[in-house]
Amino acid sequence: MKNAVIIYFSNTGNTEKVAEVVKNGLEEENFDVNLRPVNEVDGIEFFDYDLVCVGSPSYNWMPPDDLSDFLKKKFKEYEDDGFVKLKAPQVEGRNTFIFCTYSGPHTGKNEAIPVVKYIGQFFEHLGFNIVDEMYVLSEMVGSKKYNTQGKMGDIRGLPAQKDLEVVKTRVKKLAKRI
Ligand SMILES: Cc1cc2nc3c(=O)[nH]c(=O)nc-3n(C[C@H](O)[C@H](O)[C@H](O)COP(=O)(O)O)c2cc1C
Repeated sequence: MKNAVIIYFSNTGNTEKVAEVVKNGLEEENFDVNLRPVNEVDGIEFFDYDLVCVGSPSYNWMPPDDLSDFLKKKFKEYEDDGFVKLKAPQVEGRNTFIFCTYSGPHTGKNEAIPVVKYIGQFFEHLGFNIVDEMYVLSEMVGSKKYNTQGKMGDIRGLPAQKDLEVVKTRVKKLAKRI
């Protein structure tokens, strides 16, 4: 049985909603899944998993500090142990999937792209293969102005059920490639 860990940050529930769908999709493809908010990740070893999923909101077009700090801390440990090599050779069978929920009020998806690319670098530097990346448009909970007058139009109530189904379909597809 393949295994996966999903590490995520979520303050207003959007990323958690997506993380749960990612979990369901992977389980339907027979993965053993460990779902962890980033404040409950003590003892996690990335290399113990066939697939490491990381879910983040966009906070000023970067991951929130809690998530960045965790990734930096883990990276430093791996670096100290000699796992960060020049030219980042791929490690067989180690994969990463990154997803970002964002509201894009000013510049749309561009506010989420740096989040995903930044997170991805921690894993690519360790030799993980980035199997997929997903950007999920989501409401900014509690901000009517940002949810109705921003670049992405009316985003109230997102992600909707159909958006979550898109996530699940995509996750099931990537799971088959691992
Ligand atoms: C402090 C803060 C900063 C944010 N900055 C951005 C941003 O720069 N770009 C963006 O697209 N969305 C931004 N958002 C919206 C969130 O990324 C979005 O609502 C996300 O889905 C929240 O995830 P969560 O419900 O899992 O906490 C911000 C939200 C907060 C609370």
